[in-house]
Amino acid sequence: MQFVSDVEAQPDSFVGVRHADAEIPAPEVYGREAIRRIARALPPIERAYASIRFSILRPKLLSVMDLLLPDTGRILDVGCGFGLFAAYFGQTQPARAVVGVDPDGRRVEMASQVCKRLGLGHTFIEGDIRTAALTGTFEAAYVLDVMHHLAPTDQLATLSRLSDALVPGGLLLIKDITTEPRFGLEFTRLLDRGMVGLQAPLHYRHHQEWATLLRGFDFRVRVVRVPDILPYPHVVIAATKL
Ligand SMILES: C[S@@+](CC[C@H](N)C(=O)[O-])C[C@H]1O[C@@H](n2cnc3c(N)ncnc32)[C@H](O)[C@@H]1O
Repeated sequence: MQFVSDVEAQPDSFVGVRHADAEIPAPEVYGREAIRRIARALPPIERAYASIRFSILRPKLLSVMDLLLPDTGRILDVGCGFGLFAAYFGQTQPARAVVGVDPDGRRVEMASQVCKRLGLGHTFIEGDIRTAALTGTFEAAYVLDVMHHLAPTDQLATLSRLSDALVPGGLLLIKDITTEPRFGLEFTRLLDRGMVGLQAPLHYRHHQEWATLLRGFDFRVRVVRVPDILPYPHVVIAATKL
């Protein structure tokens, strides 16, 4: 019997180290310049709001999410607000085509204007994520500090809609607030109540509960907690559609 050594059995491409032809771009991990451009594209009040949002979603959080999201393809921004993060993730990877959805018409209009000013070809739809007219499928979706603003049944309807909208292998990225430590949760709740008033729904879930729910919608789940200088109990959930 003739034996062939492992090295001989490998195709050519496995022998030695092969260098890629194209240089790998390695931009600054946290896009300060991208944030400055977004601020310049906004009117004064929204600019102040943007500086608060970008100080809450700090470099660590933004960098984790930026690296998790695909660098090309259609990406759904659920509850896009003023389009701050569509504008950010679109600048760090210009081949991303973001579709933003939000029921607040004024925010959607502002998101459209900001992204146009920055030369980004994103699109924005005024609507509720559960019912908005979305066409085609998405390589990824992200939901940044939106889930806890939805009533429990709406959270489930949103997960179901997103599971249907993603391609197999697509990524659902949820940035939210977990329920421990208790002090961090109550700190966040107080600030959120100040923003939305006493009547609007606020429903936080523990990250383990999100993971269990997502598995029920056929996602594989990874979770990281992201400590902050302020006591926000940030959590990033990366769920891959099976
Ligand atoms: C705290 S803001 C976050 C905005 C943005 N994601 C950000 O991180 O700056 C929550 C957003 O969720 C939007 N929202 C609330 N209910 C929604 C729903 N059912 N479908 C889509 N967006 C919704 C609100 O209009 C608001 O813009």
